[in-house]
Amino acid sequence: MSILIKGGRVITAVDDYVADVLIEGETIAAVGTSLNGSADRVIDATGKYVIPGAIDPHTHMEMPFGGTVSCDDFTSGTVSAAFGGTTTHVDFCLQAPGQSIPDALATWHEKIERCPPVIDVGFHMAITDLHDGGRLEDVARVPDEGVTSYKLFMAYKGAIMVDDETLFRTMQVAAQTGALVMVHAENGDAIDVLVKQTLAEGKTEPRWHAASRPPETEAEATNRAVKLAHIAGCPLYVVHVSCQESVEPIAVARSRGWRTWGETCTQYLFIDQTRLEEPNFEGAKYVYTPPPRPAKNFEHLWTALRTGVLSVVSTDHCPFRFSDQKTLGRDDFSKIPNGGPGIENRLHMLHHFGVREGRLSMNQLVDLCCTQPAHLFGMFPRKGTIAAGADADVVVWDSEKPLTLSAATHHSNVDYNLFEGTEVIGAPEVVLVRGQVIVDHDELVAEPGAGQFVRRARFGEPLRPRQRAAA
Ligand code: URP
Ligand code: ZN
Ligand code: ZN
Repeated sequence: MSILIKGGRVITAVDDYVADVLIEGETIAAVGTSLNGSADRVIDATGKYVIPGAIDPHTHMEMPFGGTVSCDDFTSGTVSAAFGGTTTHVDFCLQAPGQSIPDALATWHEKIERCPPVIDVGFHMAITDLHDGGRLEDVARVPDEGVTSYKLFMAYKGAIMVDDETLFRTMQVAAQTGALVMVHAENGDAIDVLVKQTLAEGKTEPRWHAASRPPETEAEATNRAVKLAHIAGCPLYVVHVSCQESVEPIAVARSRGWRTWGETCTQYLFIDQTRLEEPNFEGAKYVYTPPPRPAKNFEHLWTALRTGVLSVVSTDHCPFRFSDQKTLGRDDFSKIPNGGPGIENRLHMLHHFGVREGRLSMNQLVDLCCTQPAHLFGMFPRKGTIAAGADADVVVWDSEKPLTLSAATHHSNVDYNLFEGTEVIGAPEVVLVRGQVIVDHDELVAEPGAGQFVRRARFGEPLRPRQRAAA
């Protein structure tokens, strides 16, 4: 099958020009002007952007957490992703406490077999326990499976939080194996004390979620992780940076040339902590961790993205239904499952409020959502850009299309939308994964299973384009 995308404005992290993109099979065969020939399908992209499919390096599909399981599986979650222009995601394979690392990986592979994705999928290995089930020898073997990043939670005490010894020993292994270490950086011990004290004072509503996790707890853990990674000699990626306090240690490390990177998520650019006060328990919709912060942080985060202090915008898509999952914490905010949805609306929000309102260039949007994640997570140059030889993960983006973001129109299983009612201009028109059209003018045209598992390269190494079959 060959597809010719004609006359679009091709945007990569560094280019912006009008060209045709010829796709043959799963890869981009050529990018140039006046490419003709006999393609099986021609897509007229005149007046549209042609951008690389976005990569979301932070998702939690069907993850057991907080006494329940996140409500998107790999089919529903990836359909939702595709409608937003995301063509690859990297999900956290979570080691259940006591479970071995190979078992955890097998569990996650079963999930994508049972509910096959429509976009490509990679895994990070989330290590929660090296005392019972987990062994460092197994951790060291994980990159051989194409899973080249380790994730550790410095919070969620009594559940999936690791101690500093586990964190540091994993960092040492990463320095040997070429894996990237990712951290959820919050001081879980201090937060545990604050949560208990808050509840003891009878403060049980959702707004106390933010009050018991002050920005300094995030900043302290970020700084600790940065320093430990430097001692261990491994690259470090700090997930879901929510506030200026934790941007600062990342900025300092980067100014010293340390191998430190940070991401923020869409919600931290738009949702502030007052949303936790919404009546009728609706504040529970915004109980994710780190919590929404004071609104002054929005501009700090935009600035950090613009200046390269933060490198990626992900979604931390971890959806729990409001109707029967968030309600587990109706009488106790600490029992509200932590997480929010967002995999579908990242590009909508960043294009409208970032590009159209002058906070980001279109090249920066592509860099933050496509190219940097591909580089950092071992998928470049196969993914993350538009170039001959790359996977044909392509989005034809209509920058004039109006859309109202809503739970009524999104494609996730979750029953609310963090950006409910927000009106944006700009949405995907056609979305392709490895040359297969997945979404075509608001219609899903692919079957579950169109997506594949991606065996990622080790940190800093290229993922070579696929070999084309000989003619
Ligand atoms: O609240 C969140 N973010 N839930 C998902 C797990 C995590 O911390 O990323
Ligand atoms: Zn986290
Ligand atoms: Zn997360």
